Amino acid sequence: MFAVSKLVIEGGRKLQGELFVHGAKNSALPLLAATLLCNGESELHNCPGLSDVEASVRILRHLGCRVNRQEDVLCVDASSVDRCDIPDQLMREMRSSIVFLGAIAARIGHAKISFPGGCELGPRPIDLHLKALRQMGLHIHEHHGYLDCKADGKLKGAPVALSFPSVGATENILLAAVLAEGTTTITNAAREPEISDLVDFLNKCGARIVETGEGTIVISGVESLHGAVHTVIPDRIAATTYMTAASVTGGNLLLHSVEPAHLGQVVPMFEEAGCMVRCRENELLIQAPQRLRPIKIVRTMPYPGFPTDAQAPVMAMTTLASGTSVFVENIFESRYKHVGELLRLGANIKVEGRVAVVEGVDHLSGAEVEAPDLRGAAALVTAGLAAEGITQVNGLHHLDRGYERLEKSLTAVGAAIKRI
Ligand code: UD1
Repeated sequence: MFAVSKLVIEGGRKLQGELFVHGAKNSALPLLAATLLCNGESELHNCPGLSDVEASVRILRHLGCRVNRQEDVLCVDASSVDRCDIPDQLMREMRSSIVFLGAIAARIGHAKISFPGGCELGPRPIDLHLKALRQMGLHIHEHHGYLDCKADGKLKGAPVALSFPSVGATENILLAAVLAEGTTTITNAAREPEISDLVDFLNKCGARIVETGEGTIVISGVESLHGAVHTVIPDRIAATTYMTAASVTGGNLLLHSVEPAHLGQVVPMFEEAGCMVRCRENELLIQAPQRLRPIKIVRTMPYPGFPTDAQAPVMAMTTLASGTSVFVENIFESRYKHVGELLRLGANIKVEGRVAVVEGVDHLSGAEVEAPDLRGAAALVTAGLAAEGITQVNGLHHLDRGYERLEKSLTAVGAAIKRI
């Protein structure tokens, strides 16, 4: 399904029309991990067809779940879970598989996985995950890149104060805490919409979780969970990527299946760039100007700040603005790998540590480029749509982790893009 291939883009066409945004990858993965905790079948609707979702399905099947897909609905029956390990190959394929740790430990009381290690965004430590799980009574033995975890009976609820509102750690603690004995209170928890989606699903399954706002989540452990039917929230990063594609080509797009409330810090950036953005319930209309204006400063921050995942595609858009834009990447150390590839297309960008300065140029020119990571791939597609001539984007396995049939959607609104 996800063979080695490249995208060939003939740039310079305005995008115009309507698109549907798929379900959020960053919700679907923890939701799939959560289905492990349920006795009986769960149905996840609006589950995107992405290679990361397929990797999660392979993990669930390896653990003993029955999983079926019918179009965008994934049915997971976790009644016969009988394993507690994730093969190294699956851990390497998708580093966010670390989110299965809390669920396996809660369900089986024993978990064996390999350390997710570093990745294309720089070191990705899991110390906050492990510290919290240890506080909840999980004995974790780290050896030769492996984690061997065992609980004495049930996990125990505990007060967990996170030193950083880590998305992955908050998810792991939630998954471990719902079936634990007693109450777990997470302070400085992540506030991303994908966390609330996970909380909503778990509560439908019989969990007792209250988000009190301002980053506090209180989880009262319950005896067991049942399956539930749930619809994955729209993907706010895919929506943002489509917005950059419309903007950079001077086009206009009506996006369906979006949640404008999740784009609070994103929409003002497009307005600053001169785009007209109108939001209605589940819809967003964007209309680009003749020439984009620069964005003074984009600082990535934990939600509700500007998302680190949107930094690369928005940067691609600013390469053609009429002035200087500045980016400060506060979440990951090494998240400017797309810059070298954008330079090949004729962009003018300088990076110094966590800061990137983009001097807008009059035009980009097509070239062969290599996707460095998932959102970097989206940035190269965005730039390629506006570049003069032909752009070839290699390394599509990155893109397919997070965008469902991107080229099909873009073709439908006027792009000349094909996968070969
Ligand atoms: C992060 C993003 C999330 C995005 C995802 C995929 C934030 C806050 N999180 O989530 O929005 O969808 O990447 O790109 O924007 N950290 C530690 N120790 C830990 C865990 C994290 O030091 O145990 C540090 C990381 O090195 C990083 C930061 O905290 O600098 C963010 O980590 P975290 O939110 O956990 O990352 P993800 O869950 O991958």
